[in-house]
Amino acid sequence: MKNNIIKESGTKGLFGLIGLLVMLLAVTGACTPGKQPAPETESHETGIKRSVFGKMPDGQEVHLYTLTNANGMQVAITNYGGRIVSILAPDRNGKMADVVLGFDNLQGYLDTHTYFGALIGRYGNRIGGAKFTLDGKVYHLPANNGPNSLHGGTKGFDQRVWTAKEIPGDEPGLELTYLSKDGEEGYPGDMHVKVVYTLEKDNGLKIDYNATTDKDTVVNLTNHSYFNLAGEGNGNILNTVLWINSDEITPVDATQIPTGKIEKVDGTPFDFRKPTPIGAHINEDNQQLKYGQGYDINYILNRKGPGLELAARAYDPESGRELEVYTTEPGIQFYSGNFLDGTIHGKGGVAYGKRSAFCLETQHYPDSPNHPSFPTTELKPGQTFHQVTVFKFTTTSK
Ligand code: GLA
Repeated sequence: MKNNIIKESGTKGLFGLIGLLVMLLAVTGACTPGKQPAPETESHETGIKRSVFGKMPDGQEVHLYTLTNANGMQVAITNYGGRIVSILAPDRNGKMADVVLGFDNLQGYLDTHTYFGALIGRYGNRIGGAKFTLDGKVYHLPANNGPNSLHGGTKGFDQRVWTAKEIPGDEPGLELTYLSKDGEEGYPGDMHVKVVYTLEKDNGLKIDYNATTDKDTVVNLTNHSYFNLAGEGNGNILNTVLWINSDEITPVDATQIPTGKIEKVDGTPFDFRKPTPIGAHINEDNQQLKYGQGYDINYILNRKGPGLELAARAYDPESGRELEVYTTEPGIQFYSGNFLDGTIHGKGGVAYGKRSAFCLETQHYPDSPNHPSFPTTELKPGQTFHQVTVFKFTTTSK
């Protein structure tokens, strides 16, 4: 689909004398020898394009879908793990950079297990002791993070091949569906999951999540993009200025499971109520920072109601690239890329060092199934889980 900025110089529909004259003048200007043709009006082909991203070990082909809007912003998503592979966003001078960590092809994602850009499920973040009780029954999950179950288990939604459907248009989209079978990674119920990515005209990337089940179960879906607004591979994110619309966190124990307490951010390194560089307090002597080796904590978002509300804003002062995160979720995991250590080589072979990206994972609180006081993550037959998150790219002159 083409957007409506047309590059043509001729107004062929006008046959009157005035029209012809105007046309002649325009054409003469462009064709006079020695003169450069006038620069073309910026025009971007909006819509969605599919290419082959690689093959799964069983030979199944996996695709890359590139969404483009009229501003030239581009988001590439693969149906392997529903992962955002790249996001081209403009800086304050219109210069594009890819602002998410990832790999050039499917093989990169298969060779190195990371959560780069992935859809996370059934349960985003940790479930303590890799078990929970529901309707009086204990469910055991794979322990893949010390004693805990992290991000859906050994083979979560991030490692599944999703069914993709292209949605063409000026606000192109990609619908991804996946059926998680009863008992998969220990979770009860056949769960039908549908996630729709939409690249909006105003440079918002909307992620709309839906899930239904045929047995009582738990669910907590999120996206695990690793952002670097200076461009992936372009240094660390310590100068990125962050604001989080939150007064409280859910502190964790040594294995990063919420203690159940709720703590004010007041007077702690976790206070991002005023825009603050991520690096300003990251090395302070603080037990919660030590457990996470930096920021890796769930913030309880200040909310007015159930709708889409601004949760966080981050900007890179040098380029002016700014990210706004809107969500319907009650929490957000701010993770400052502490476990990256330079051993993973991403796009173009570049090494991703410690804190070379940050994540803002919109979610229900970690380990909710074991904390009845937290907002519930239970899903029953007949109900639909629904969450919406928008990553919106703007620029700032700050
Ligand atoms: C989440 C967790 C972190 C880490 C990353 C992935 O943000 O909270 O502890 O596991 O995912 O590495």
